[in-house]
Amino acid sequence: MSLSAGQAPFQFHDLHPDSENFRDDVLNGLARLPKALPPKYFYDARGSELFEAICELPEYYPTRTELMMMQAHAPEMARLLGPDCLLIEYGAGSGRKTRVLIEALAPAAYVPIDISRTALRQCAAELAAQYPAVAIAAVCADYSRPFAMPRLDGVAPRRRVIYFPGSTIGNFTRGDALRFLRHAQALAGPGGAMLVGVDLKKDPARLHAAYNDAQGVTAAFNLNLLARINRELDGHFDLTAFEHHAFYDVGEGRIEMHLRSLCEQTIGIAGRAFQFSKGETIHTENSCKYAVGEFQQLARAAGFVPQQCWCDADNLFSIHYLVNA
Ligand code: AVJ
Repeated sequence: MSLSAGQAPFQFHDLHPDSENFRDDVLNGLARLPKALPPKYFYDARGSELFEAICELPEYYPTRTELMMMQAHAPEMARLLGPDCLLIEYGAGSGRKTRVLIEALAPAAYVPIDISRTALRQCAAELAAQYPAVAIAAVCADYSRPFAMPRLDGVAPRRRVIYFPGSTIGNFTRGDALRFLRHAQALAGPGGAMLVGVDLKKDPARLHAAYNDAQGVTAAFNLNLLARINRELDGHFDLTAFEHHAFYDVGEGRIEMHLRSLCEQTIGIAGRAFQFSKGETIHTENSCKYAVGEFQQLARAAGFVPQQCWCDADNLFSIHYLVNA
């Protein structure tokens, strides 16, 4: 545990997660068939900038819809969650929604959990400065795997509530989402709860448009993964020889994003050679969509009891409040 040197103190607990290994994950992912890369590598500085731009697109409804729902329902959420919560957020990047919740809830403590030390420190410092009445305890860990919550000094919360906005849960396959929810249920502990944002199943044309925007920002976001490999791993991708390919698979209930090779080509990366046939793709992301009842069933299978679910008027997005049995 360490305290920041600045004006607003926060606790920082480093659980030393295995640091991300971009090089190994890229070399292994491109050696596999079908080729695939983990979506977490989208978010370098340029990728994060492009994701921010995606959130502003007219076609990309999730971010603005979820924020609007938080603004509309935060008082009710605060009543359900109750006073003196330990509010644990999986991730440290979701700024505005988190602020809306913290302001309505006034939790005893806020615990952002992120694998990125820099993002985590920045988030903790900002919130500590803005909310001096809330104890801030940042935990550097990989929340997609089981981890133990460190003992937090000077806070005696009534219950733990895990906040996981953004439909980031959609990046997991359904099987991995179940395992992830089981870990979350265990971490929330007796009397604990979870508040999770989940993108809804809807008209496939609407979903298709959200991942194939007219301005090509999503395409640039997807292609930036190849640019990042070029920048950081001595890659030799020609970005004009690949195209963004995103589609909704109704059977799987998910958007898949791919990068498709426009010709037969061999690409050098970190001194190795990778063959691409014409039309071959790299699978870069899944974004699973859930009907309300379907997600509630998944939550029950993980040991949660669904208590409440908010949807917007157009049934685009859902926020589930799950409690521990
Ligand atoms: C941040 C994972 C929720 O799946 O919609 C946006 C990422 N990918 N456009 C999503 C994303 C393409 C986003 N998540």
